[in-house]
Amino acid sequence: MAPSTGLTCVPVRCVGATAASARWSGSVGSPAPVLAPLHDAGALVFADVASIRHAERAAAVGADGLVLLTAGAGGQTGWLNPFVFVRAVRGFFDGPIVLAGGISDGHALRAAEALGCDLAYMGTKFIATRESMADARYKQMLVEATADDILLTTAFTGLQTNMLRPSIEAAGLDPNDLPARGAIDIGKDIDIGARESRPKRWRDVWSGGHSASGVTGVLGIDELVAQTIAEYEAASARVRLV
Ligand SMILES: Cc1cc2nc3c(=O)[nH]c(=O)nc-3n(C[C@H](O)[C@H](O)[C@H](O)COP(=O)(O)O)c2cc1C
Repeated sequence: MAPSTGLTCVPVRCVGATAASARWSGSVGSPAPVLAPLHDAGALVFADVASIRHAERAAAVGADGLVLLTAGAGGQTGWLNPFVFVRAVRGFFDGPIVLAGGISDGHALRAAEALGCDLAYMGTKFIATRESMADARYKQMLVEATADDILLTTAFTGLQTNMLRPSIEAAGLDPNDLPARGAIDIGKDIDIGARESRPKRWRDVWSGGHSASGVTGVLGIDELVAQTIAEYEAASARVRLV
């Protein structure tokens, strides 16, 4: 899992493509209905899974790869500890595994590889890049946030979602006393056009993962990738010493 090939940036859902083959990553529900048409088109299908039962089902219906949503992931998250989740899935699945959640730097990326993963997602960190279209205040909030500032709540999407606590407070809401589940849909919230038409109160409530702890500044994507590679190599050298 060399970082130059192993990283993908969300919310891009097609994780890699050539004219001859493509890999599609899908979330929410079983991949079964899309498998045949995508395989016929020469694509590989990676299914997002948040539990061992989900992973077993996706593997059984023929998903080519599994994206393990683990505790602390940005956006709609999983809840399982990544150490346990990856090792359990490796017990019955030989195909490519992508780890989603908690990859705050190249050290974590190297750990994911040691655990048995082939690829990893880094979502939150790429939001705080110069090329990202996210609001400048969102980027700055990620720089200032630590994992302690991430709140797991169902209030905004109806599903377990990790949100930036300071953005909830800035919107005039009490993070400890949020309204009933499902008030807004984060899938639409990242669509800038849709966001602009939403009442202002919700517009600036933002998501991030525990990996916010690894956001130390707003970098260019090339700088972030170079930094991640350097961290990955340092971690690899350190592991080789023991
Ligand atoms: C703002 C935001 C929006 C996201 N939107 C989606 C999405 O539309 N579909 C999806 O499957 N995952 C989505 N994700 C989750 C990512 O695919 C990935 O699992 C997550 O970013 C990994 O955790 P990290 O942010 O700590 O790196 C989103 C994540 C964030 C932070």
